[in-house]
Amino acid sequence: MEKKRYGTFFGNERVTKLPFGGDYNPEQWPEEVWEEDMRLFALAGVDCVTLNTFSWASLQTDEDTYCFDKLDKIMDLVKKNGLHVILATSTAAHPAWMARKYPEILRTEFSGLRRKFGSRHNSCPNSPVFQMYAKRLAGKLAERYGKSGNVIAWHIGNEYGGACYCERCEAAFRVWLKEKYGTIEELNRAWNTCFWGHVFYDWEEVVVPNLQSEHFEENRTTFQGISLDYRRFCSDSLLANYRAEYEAVKAVTPDIPVTTNLMGAYKELDYQKWAKYMDFVSWDNYPANDTPAVEIAMNHDLMRGIKQGQPFALMEQTPSVTNWLSYNALKRPGVMRLLSYQAVAHGADTVLFFQMRRSIGACEKYHGALIDHAGHEHTRVFREMAALGQELKELGSQVMGSRIRAKAAIVVDWDNWWALEYSAGPSCDLRYMDEVKRYYAAFDELNIPVDLISVEDDLGKYSLVAAPVLYMVKTGYERELKRFVEDGGTLIATFFSGMVEEHDLVITGGYPGRLRDIFGVWVEEIDALPVGERNGFSWRGKQYPAELLCDLMHLETAESEAEYEKDFYAGTPVIVRNRLGKGNTWYVGTRSNAEFYRDFLREVTREAGMEEIWTPRDGVEVCVRENDREKFYFFLNHRQEDVEMTMEKSGCNLLEKRDYAAGEKAVLAGKGVMIYQVER
Ligand code: GLA
Ligand code: ZN
Repeated sequence: MEKKRYGTFFGNERVTKLPFGGDYNPEQWPEEVWEEDMRLFALAGVDCVTLNTFSWASLQTDEDTYCFDKLDKIMDLVKKNGLHVILATSTAAHPAWMARKYPEILRTEFSGLRRKFGSRHNSCPNSPVFQMYAKRLAGKLAERYGKSGNVIAWHIGNEYGGACYCERCEAAFRVWLKEKYGTIEELNRAWNTCFWGHVFYDWEEVVVPNLQSEHFEENRTTFQGISLDYRRFCSDSLLANYRAEYEAVKAVTPDIPVTTNLMGAYKELDYQKWAKYMDFVSWDNYPANDTPAVEIAMNHDLMRGIKQGQPFALMEQTPSVTNWLSYNALKRPGVMRLLSYQAVAHGADTVLFFQMRRSIGACEKYHGALIDHAGHEHTRVFREMAALGQELKELGSQVMGSRIRAKAAIVVDWDNWWALEYSAGPSCDLRYMDEVKRYYAAFDELNIPVDLISVEDDLGKYSLVAAPVLYMVKTGYERELKRFVEDGGTLIATFFSGMVEEHDLVITGGYPGRLRDIFGVWVEEIDALPVGERNGFSWRGKQYPAELLCDLMHLETAESEAEYEKDFYAGTPVIVRNRLGKGNTWYVGTRSNAEFYRDFLREVTREAGMEEIWTPRDGVEVCVRENDREKFYFFLNHRQEDVEMTMEKSGCNLLEKRDYAAGEKAVLAGKGVMIYQVER
């Protein structure tokens, strides 16, 4: 097979294959070990390491003393050995001396308790001391290593997250609020402070919403508007930290792309906003052994979606085990490879791991690594990694830069997530991502690729858009949705939608508020069914359950396709269809089961003229990445058993370098993978 040049690594022409390797912490080891690491890396096909993730304490020993000797040596070593570097800025854990000298850099917990030095991800984002030193370190690293030639990306901080409730954050929150609302009157309006006599006369009266004020549990607040703004503020505060370091490295190395490692469906940070300030998205995939493949797939698609479908980096995953689950089961033979390709199938352009060598002390000493405590290459994990390393070398730059072209999208919105789950009523069991997952899983089963998009993304390229539990409709979004439908799109919404605007204030006049004319219904009441209680309905000849929430609605311009079968609202509509312009809308007034979502989306996608990319097979995930010339089908067998496949198109299995004619049979081994290249 002829080797062609395909994509690049986020614009870097010198990276000619998917980078393979990951977090490497030589500073935890004596130098004698380093040469041995290099030998083992070569053996395993490792060509990229993430360095310097947690070295602040040794890089800066007091206010003015910086010491880069060790990092210089490490950088020389990896360069000599031909490794690419993703260089971290080390600011995710501050030095002990700094905490002692400047206690203001320590975080205050949700309970109001001020923390002492310890752990990591422990700095108050609004501490000027932390901000100044973090930015300075990032700048120094860029000056010193930015021209090394082998730094392919900057890795700012690490897994940003958490919140702080200290006085500095409180003061910064007031500033943030002033900028947002301008006047105290507007603040009072947006927060509806006439409720429970909360009217604020002065910005200084505003305090952080935590256990000492508005909350009685982490997710239960008496003032949703305040808590919602505090979440936004916390996400913005950490984003400002990230951006300060971004600017610091960019000022020196404008051509090196910058990222930070995200965590998939991580509620605390508005990743859609963050992604705007990232040159490429990267994320850490740590499923438990019993995490369904579809959930991992959804996380990948979410991480791809926040950057409008651009390829992303798989920054971390474990070669074998994690250390932080209750039961840290081994990744079974083949699973590490399978999950690596699953990431690539969903748009990853790297296969990176945490970590290269297992440490000997503290909480990650039993976390999987390429090089185990045994210290040599004669381990199962090393062999599997080395085999994958070899395979990726042979794969070269094929698939790099190729895209997933979905005609279906699911709308995901962080503000909606936060507001929905702060909502007091109607049900404590309502979880945003669970509802999103139900729709996602059905698309997945039907082999219909789907993008997870934000409320700012263009809807024009999609035929079908689902917006599960879009409780919050931000001002103006209703117009986007309406235009999409009028132009011929199919739009799906569910129960408990269109309830509030961006401040979590209810839109009066009948639910779903601003979406009412799009769906042609008005919802009068919402019934919450406790776990185990069910209503039901039949749709197009089949019976399905109704659970969790049941919207009780009236038809306006819509037609009912199914009605509740019991209770006092028996006979009233539950599945409702409306025609608008050239398009269609569906309002699904309750939550049902997986079978319903699959049947429903099968019918609705067909009616919208959409096709599956490959005939669905139980347990076999199919994805397709494409460029102008070819399509790369990924077949991922999540089952233990072999599966016989019919190759529906002629093409080439790139991993086995074997051609197939259309109609030919192929065996996909248990936990096996096929990357199948088809000319367009
Ligand atoms: C995260 C971190 C790593 C490491 C791994 C362990 O992803 O970024 O530093 O702690 O978890 O699973
Ligand atoms: Zn703080």
